[in-house]
Amino acid sequence: MIQLTDITHGYGPARSRTQVLDRVSLVMPTSQMWALTGASGSGKSTLLNLVGLLDRPHSGEIKLAGQNVSGLSAHEAAKVRNRLIGFVFQSFHLMPRLSAWENVALPLVHRAVGRTARRHAAMEQLERVGLDDRLYHRPEEMSGGQRQRVAIARALVTQPRLILADEPTGNLDSESGAMIMALLSRINREMGVSILMVTHDEALARSCDGQVVMQDGRIIQTVTG
Ligand SMILES: Nc1ncnc2c1ncn2[C@@H]1O[C@H](COP(=O)(O)OP(=O)(O)OP(=O)(O)O)[C@@H](O)[C@H]1O
Ligand SMILES: [Mg+2]
Repeated sequence: MIQLTDITHGYGPARSRTQVLDRVSLVMPTSQMWALTGASGSGKSTLLNLVGLLDRPHSGEIKLAGQNVSGLSAHEAAKVRNRLIGFVFQSFHLMPRLSAWENVALPLVHRAVGRTARRHAAMEQLERVGLDDRLYHRPEEMSGGQRQRVAIARALVTQPRLILADEPTGNLDSESGAMIMALLSRINREMGVSILMVTHDEALARSCDGQVVMQDGRIIQTVTG
């Protein structure tokens, strides 16, 4: 699913650039759930953004679902991203003025799906995450765990093959966090969606199919089940 070869990346203008990723290589098979761990500043979010085609590496090759995506234009990258990838963030990134179902349906607006079909698709995913009784609630009327479930439903509504999650339980209490983890794990098992997730939770990382440990912009360890 994900194949990274010698990825190098940094921020800032070339002369004063700080190296953030240093020759990172990784192969993650389809339909698995992997954890990305490592100290703050080690490059986890940077790596996730590159895999998610939100940014382009300075050098190296990225393959997703067998397709080399490193050389794509911004427009082509956006198309691959919309077709293949769903994102889940620590701080949910929901639209405050929209209801739960409207938030979930938002990615379909860009696909020119009609309102009735959008609502139907959103309801299906909200049912999957156990929130079909919260269709009309706005984010501020929901708990953190419920907001993250809405965000997961939104990530699923385009039927992605890969979910990238950056500390999805980082803003949640341990009980809600455990529920979100169980949900992601069920989605992985039942739908075969590949999941790459940044986490600081060691126990959780060990329960995944694979664990990648980063330090100072390098992968220092890869553990597979
Ligand atoms: N947009 C940016 N501009 C400049 N430097 C950046 C930018 N984003 C990240 N960095 C730097 O790149 C390094 C890696 O950051 P990154 O966010 O990938 O770390 P992380 O492993 O996700 O950390 P955390 O666990 O705290 O989220 C850090 O030193 C950070 O300061
Ligand atoms: Mg980060």
